[in-house]
Parts: sequence; C-alpha cells; structure tokens
Amino acid sequence: MAKSGDAVTSLESERHDNRSVLQTYSNLYSSDPIRVKAPGRINLIGDHTDYNEGFVLPAAIDMEIELALGKNSGRTCRIFSIDYKEEFIFDLEDFSPLPSGWANYIMGVVAQFQEKGFLITGFDCVFGGDIPIGAGLSSSAALECGVAVGLNRLFGYDIKKIDLIKMAQKAEHTFAGVQCGIMDQFASIMGKIDHVIQLDCRSLDYRHFKLDLQDYEILLCDTQVKHSLADSAYNTRREECDKGVAILSKNHENVASLRDVTLSMLEEQKSLLDPVIYQRCKFVVEENQRVLDACKALDKGDMVGFGTKMYQSHDGLSNLYEVSCAELDLLVEAAKSMNSVKGSRMMGGGFGGCTINLVKKNEAQAFENEMKQVFQKAFNQELVIYRVNIQDGVREIME
Ligand code: GLA
Repeated sequence: MAKSGDAVTSLESERHDNRSVLQTYSNLYSSDPIRVKAPGRINLIGDHTDYNEGFVLPAAIDMEIELALGKNSGRTCRIFSIDYKEEFIFDLEDFSPLPSGWANYIMGVVAQFQEKGFLITGFDCVFGGDIPIGAGLSSSAALECGVAVGLNRLFGYDIKKIDLIKMAQKAEHTFAGVQCGIMDQFASIMGKIDHVIQLDCRSLDYRHFKLDLQDYEILLCDTQVKHSLADSAYNTRREECDKGVAILSKNHENVASLRDVTLSMLEEQKSLLDPVIYQRCKFVVEENQRVLDACKALDKGDMVGFGTKMYQSHDGLSNLYEVSCAELDLLVEAAKSMNSVKGSRMMGGGFGGCTINLVKKNEAQAFENEMKQVFQKAFNQELVIYRVNIQDGVREIME
C-alpha cells in the first residue's frame, strides 16, 4: 500500500515494520508467539445488502493488522495495542463488553470460542497495523478475524473458515453492539490476491474472480470523518429493512428478506409502506441488481458500464438510504466531473469514511492533486488518499 504524502509514508513504513509487533511481544511477554496478518477490505459495489441476504463484491487489501499471539500459563489474557500504546488485561472467567474500544473485538471473539466449546487458556497478544480506524476499511473485522484465526491455530483447533467468519461477525454483534452483516469478516478471511469476491450473502456461495481493471486503478479518498452516531444509525437501517420485510411478506409469503423483493412488488405495495421504509427497501432491491449488472460488466471488461453502476450506487446510498454525508457527496461529485475517473462511490457503512474511485492509471497523480484541492477548499481539511492492492485473506506468517 502506498500512501500519498511523503512524510506520512516514511512514518507509516516504520509502523508497518513486521519486527515491531514481534519485538514488542518479546519485550512484554515471554512465550514464543505465532504471527498472523489480517487485512482490511474494500467493496467495489453492493453496500447495505449483506444483512438483507443480498450480493456484495469486496476484496481484502494490503492495509493490514499484524498480530503475535502466544499462550501464557494462567487464566488471564494480556493484549497490547501498538497503535494505542495501551495494554488491556482480562480474566477468562469474568469479562464483559466495555462501553467502547478495541478490547471488545478481542473479548467478543474469545467469548465465541468459549460459547462454542472451544476452550482456551490464557494468552498474550500484541497487534498493530496500518488500517485507518473509522475509515470504513473494516479495521474491526480485521482484528476480529486475526484473533479468530490466531486462536484457532494457537490452541490447535480445526475450525472451518466459514465458522471462524461467523464467530467474528457474532463478536461484533455481541461485544461491539453493531448488527453488521457478514461481508467484512468474509472478505478479511476469504480474500485472494488480485481477486474480488462475488458473494451471495444468503447461500454464502462465492466466486473469486480476477480483477482486471485494464488501464484503471483503485484509489480511496478518506474524508477522515467519523460520525459518532454511525453505529446506531447502522442498526436503525437494519431495523427499517426488517420492517419493510414484515409488511411486504404479508401479501407475498415467499418474501423472507429484501433479497426476495422485486421492484414491481415494491411499487405494488408502496401505499402500505411508510415513505422512509419504502426508500430503504427500494435502495436495497436496486443495489442487489446493480451488483449483478456490475459483475457482468466486469466480466465483459466494460469499465464504463461498471463505473456507471458505481455512480448509481452512490446516488442510492446518498438519497434513498441516506448513509452518506456532505464530504462523501462532494468527493463523488468532483470525481464525476473528471474524465480520468470511470466510477466513484462511498463505501461501507457510511456517515464518513472513504470513497472508492476507479481512476485511469496514468492520471492518478492529477486526480490526487485535484481532489485534495477541492476538498481543502470546501472543508479546509486535508484529504488523505490511499492506493490499495488486493491481498490474500488472513494468513499465518512463518518467516
Ligand atoms: C459495514 C458492515 C458490513 C456492511 C457494510 C455496508 O461495513 O460491517 O456488514 O453492512 O457496513 O455494506
């Protein structure tokens, strides 16, 4: 991953240094740890569809968390975050969710191991990485997945990947209080270098397909906006979708989720739905179709067709689903006005975070300069831009 802005890059690469996780571990704790790398994710198209049993198109990226984990002889877990420079200690017999903070992601996974009967003893863990927090790149899923895969390996269990994914997702529900779908954890564990994952969130069938962007590359523009109410707004969206399903299924018994709803069905029942609920449902039904259409465009190498779906996705997220914000909208508008960009949209849960942009390779630098200028002028704030590569999912580091 390269980050624009030279001064930041050199700092990043220092923080990125594998040895610092291992070194910190050996400074603090005594056992010989195993090491795991867990990536963040991007999503090309298909947001807020995963918890509606729909389709998504994510990929794991080369912004990652590295973890070192080793057993200790007690019943306590000692966890050190390099980025926060703080240690958190908890007792395996007695722990519960905190009001907020990174420890929840770890305790949530440990609770899942215990609940499923995969008993563990005390362990020590050091972790750190370069996934920006709150940027919509799923640093929390990466941490959960890294811990899940790490504990599975450390304690010699043979839990299947799909079960680790579900345990990591459940950790987010129970300890972080976000009723997330399965996309982020799935992408972090199932990612494959240079491939995107076309995932059906109902059957969990998936297809890895090689991402050939031709003359284009993916750039992420990070607004650095983090709305504190994002988590509760996310849960509200989920409830709104469920309300829609409850009404629509009254006249259509086959409707178990918005996945089963068509646009004509929705129009037919419009008068029964509260206008806001109607809007939410319309967005999800359309977004599902867009993912399928966008995949066809990718298969045909049709970048313009793919990019058009990205713009439409943003429009729906902003106007119908209402999870965008002024900063994201401005970035997409600015991108749209540039010939070098084929598609742009907000990505992930929303209310801040990043836009994902499909930018002509040889014009990427000009895109960066222009976007930074536009953002600075409108919000008097520096825009951070990342060029990301698609990486493998969570893996053990052996060297
Ligand atoms: C967050 C959630 C995911 C998904 C996205 C929106 O990242 O964790 O499950 O719902 O938002 O697509």
